[in-house]
Amino acid sequence: MKILIMGPPGAGKGTIAEMLQENFDVVHLSSGDILRDAIKENNPLGMKAKAFMEKGVLVPDEIIIEIMKEKINADAFVLDGFPRNLVQVKKLEDADIKIDIVLNLQVSEETVISRISGRRICAQCGKIYHLKNMPPKKEDICDVCNGKLYQREDDKPQTIKERLNTYREQTEELVKYYDEKNILENIDAGGNKETTYDKITGLEWLKKRKYKSKAGL
Ligand code: AP5
Repeated sequence: MKILIMGPPGAGKGTIAEMLQENFDVVHLSSGDILRDAIKENNPLGMKAKAFMEKGVLVPDEIIIEIMKEKINADAFVLDGFPRNLVQVKKLEDADIKIDIVLNLQVSEETVISRISGRRICAQCGKIYHLKNMPPKKEDICDVCNGKLYQREDDKPQTIKERLNTYREQTEELVKYYDEKNILENIDAGGNKETTYDKITGLEWLKKRKYKSKAGL
């Protein structure tokens, strides 16, 4: 089962991918998380990517492709954040990696701005919170591991605007590309995460899969 999850910044891709990973035998592969880990580890490619990420623009293709090619090796995954343009799509296809379904999370611009501005992430385990929508039990502390919560550098207002422009100019065209291949499912993701998740697990495609979910669904 090879799923690609798409949508503008802050649409909830990471949140839904984590829920799918928790309940099904799939691995969540997030290009953004992989880049942020590479920066934390002072990996030379990560260090080259840093300035682009802070500006809210795409990391050059040769860097992201070099980083991702080692990572996309699972049989069943939810790919989040890669590919982001047609050059990257081609790389995936040249490597014979065939996406089965593309989930396109649709959310209004107003909603994504409010979701990104309130996002906080655990520095230790990566769990995603939102100050209003999904607050931790104790302020600034992760419910799962007691790690400290932080705000991403690129979640500041000016960078959010740039990321939304980058999405519209360079990534949105992939929606049409995958629609023409008949593997696109548009998902209204404006409601809470449970509602969005239920819409996805209710898709005929997913119901027909032989994959046994960890929850026994
Ligand atoms: P990346 O990390 O991929 O960022 P993004 O695509 O902008 O997406 P986000 O992680 O911001 O949002 P999300 O949709 O996962 O939302 P989340 O679930 O966290 O990329 C960062 C940068 O890396 C890029 O700008 C680029 O520079 C570089 N990069 C990455 N991949 C690249 C590539 N392939 N090529 C080139 N460069 C690349 O949710 C957001 C918030 O909303 C959270 O607080 C959450 O709690 C809350 N929330 C989620 N769902 C709901 C809901 N249903 N209701 C209420 N609140 C919700």
